Amino acid sequence: MDFYSILKHIHSGWAYLVILAALFLFLCLSYFILSKKEATTNLRKVSFITTMIFHIQLLAGAILYLLSPYSKWTEDTMKDDINRLYAIEHPLMMFAAVALITIVNSRIKKYSDVKFTNMILVALAIACMLAMIPWHAWPI
Ligand code: HEM
Repeated sequence: MDFYSILKHIHSGWAYLVILAALFLFLCLSYFILSKKEATTNLRKVSFITTMIFHIQLLAGAILYLLSPYSKWTEDTMKDDINRLYAIEHPLMMFAAVALITIVNSRIKKYSDVKFTNMILVALAIACMLAMIPWHAWPI
């Protein structure tokens, strides 16, 4: 197996962890907001670990972007649905999701009260991911 195939498998498998971590963070934030609790060390740990999981996926995705035959730019990129997904839509939306989770993490680290907007931002990150996962190719 070449490096590209190994990385593709890692990126594909890690995606499960990314989604589960984001959902878990969302549930934790909902619990803290509904019970009006202040941020604890455990919540900060959950948000930090989630951010790390996202950043690892971002790194794998960025390297994959350079290696994948599907993300190459050609004059037909915008006309070809699959090529456009891997070259533009998937990376952009996933990058937005990583940025949102990073913002939430820094807000949880900074403030003791858990803000409702954090929950909205995590929900948006999950929506960005679910919208742009290549479902046709992903072995669930
Ligand atoms: C952070 C959240 C991300 C998630 C959950 C995610 C998820 C996935 C999934 C499920 C696949 C399909 C893998 C397969 O075919 O089995 C995929 C493919 C791909 N992803 Fe991501 N991804 C993320 C971020 C990124 C980023 C930031 C980039 C680029 C900068 C990227 C670039 C790619 C490329 C190029 C492929 C196609 C690989 C190929 O089939 O050749 N991904 N991604």
